[in-house]
Amino acid sequence: MPKLIIDNIAVEVPDGTSVLEAALSVGITIPHFCWHPALGKAGACRVCAVKILEGPVKGIQMSCMLPAQDGMVVSTGDGEAVALRKSVIEWLMINHPHDCPVCDEGGECQLQDFTIAGGHGIRRYDGKKRTHVNQYLGELIEHEMNRCIQCYRCARFYQEYAGGTDFGVLGRADMVYFGRQCDGPLESPFSGNLVDICPTGVFTDRTARFRARYWDYDMAPSLCPHCSLGCNTIPAARYRELLKVMARRNDAVNGWFICDRGRFGNAAVNAPRRPRQPLVDRQPVGWDQALDTLLGRLSEFLELHGPGSLAIVGSPRMSLEGNIMAARLRDLLGAGTICYFGSSKQSEPALEAANSLTPDTAASQADVRSADLIAIVGCDLLEQAPMMALAVRQAWRNGARIYAVDCDQTTSLYAGEVAPALSALPFSEAKQPVIIYGTDHKQPDSSDDAVRSGTKLAFILNGPNDFGCALLAREQGAVPLADALAGGKIKGLLSFEADLTTELPDAVRVLAACDWQPTQLMQRAEVALPATAWIEMEGTFVNNEGRAQRFRQVMPPGLPIRGLGPDGHPPREFRKTAPGSDILPGWRLIADIIERLEGERVDVPLSGRWQKLQGINAEDAGESVL
Ligand code: FES
Repeated sequence: MPKLIIDNIAVEVPDGTSVLEAALSVGITIPHFCWHPALGKAGACRVCAVKILEGPVKGIQMSCMLPAQDGMVVSTGDGEAVALRKSVIEWLMINHPHDCPVCDEGGECQLQDFTIAGGHGIRRYDGKKRTHVNQYLGELIEHEMNRCIQCYRCARFYQEYAGGTDFGVLGRADMVYFGRQCDGPLESPFSGNLVDICPTGVFTDRTARFRARYWDYDMAPSLCPHCSLGCNTIPAARYRELLKVMARRNDAVNGWFICDRGRFGNAAVNAPRRPRQPLVDRQPVGWDQALDTLLGRLSEFLELHGPGSLAIVGSPRMSLEGNIMAARLRDLLGAGTICYFGSSKQSEPALEAANSLTPDTAASQADVRSADLIAIVGCDLLEQAPMMALAVRQAWRNGARIYAVDCDQTTSLYAGEVAPALSALPFSEAKQPVIIYGTDHKQPDSSDDAVRSGTKLAFILNGPNDFGCALLAREQGAVPLADALAGGKIKGLLSFEADLTTELPDAVRVLAACDWQPTQLMQRAEVALPATAWIEMEGTFVNNEGRAQRFRQVMPPGLPIRGLGPDGHPPREFRKTAPGSDILPGWRLIADIIERLEGERVDVPLSGRWQKLQGINAEDAGESVL
């Protein structure tokens, strides 16, 4: 543990820490472009210069390349170091197009920040600038090579970290080019991270191009809802329209990155067909009328058929709060059935995860990244949980052995061997083994139990809240909807953000459905209640490892100002509120129904054993519910 002094502050850091990292650990920022916490050092940009006043080395040094050593006295503000950094910025800006006013990166550009912070303002060189031809890299990412400062972050991420082969460094000397051999969409399912990782505006999000400046965005810490991993995100919205999604750092979960599905797969939030107004028998009505009609029909239904014929249906797409409230509604109505999953195919992996995992055995993505033996069982990882595949790649890069059991692992991300069974793998030789079970794996047999002892486990599930729903299903005695319907007793449903996985018999009434997506159930519902999407509300998801994480409201609900009306223009009428802005989160709607039935205000969705989750901070790593 070397001890050193940086700008008169004593610092003690683990062996192998660079001076740059040591400075950051005590809140001293040294300018940097090529160094990145997930990619390490490259020594390419030369802007991290500091002066070493005392110690084993002396003079001007690149702080990202220099390991912190005992006895070092470091000055980041020394005149010589400051002058060198200033010169480096000036050199980097010689060929830069100086196009900040029209650059989409403006306001979130590290080059802009360090240029201004370093005091560079006037371009003294009046020669011709070196220019490049940009490439078409697909519909998602815009390329502007003239802004490049040759930090190599993009190529290091794309090729080394993410295993992509269709993009890299071309050219030589002062004509280094970062791109593809020829125009065409980037092939890596992680290509969107180039946007986050580029410290200038070479790669920008084409889907959000010219729509807003960084300071215009509504932003908040959020979670990706596209698989069960719970990767952390920062969605950026403006005027009630989701414009783009950025990765948010969580070292225990996704690290610094997200996959392209999480970044670019969110068009449904802005979809014109999204439900925005309550409907009764497909006719638009006000909220009071919708809820009164629902309660009236519900009471007639219960009188006619009895509570045993009613099913309340929650969903792994809905927040934990909503699913807890669904159980409270079931209790209040005395309904015979509560369902959290569409079918047993969906519920079984989640229940197996909830029954198998303990705080000692649950493997996070960070555990997978540091594993030395990984067995992937019955899983197409890249399809079911892309970021877990990226985590496996990091372990493989560090020398881990990868085995595939009951599945084919043909991916360029890592090289693995196919094994006949878990019992054939050398678990005893490994220090940190992990087994990753996919949704298609066969039920483990007793020999699997033997190899599982001392091994961490990860289960890949379907939805963002499968794990939370499995815990609730166990607690509430829930059954999958398909099983409930097969019993023939169910004659009516109240559904909350549920997806149908099987045919719903014609005789079963959908008394009400609540969702933010135009699902089959919403279209069939007698009373259709629009709800907020996850980025328009606060809530909790429990990810595949049993980690409860909070997402915060990013933007208010309502029709985006950019015309989604029939003529492409927002409604031409004066209103004090945006159309569709009076919708509520699923849990609040259920609470409203309970209040109308009970006559008492319901405020706390996280009650009972879930109460401890109330204090989770969305910016923290989350809390285990195991
Ligand atoms: Fe040190 Fe680039 S950050 S050389």
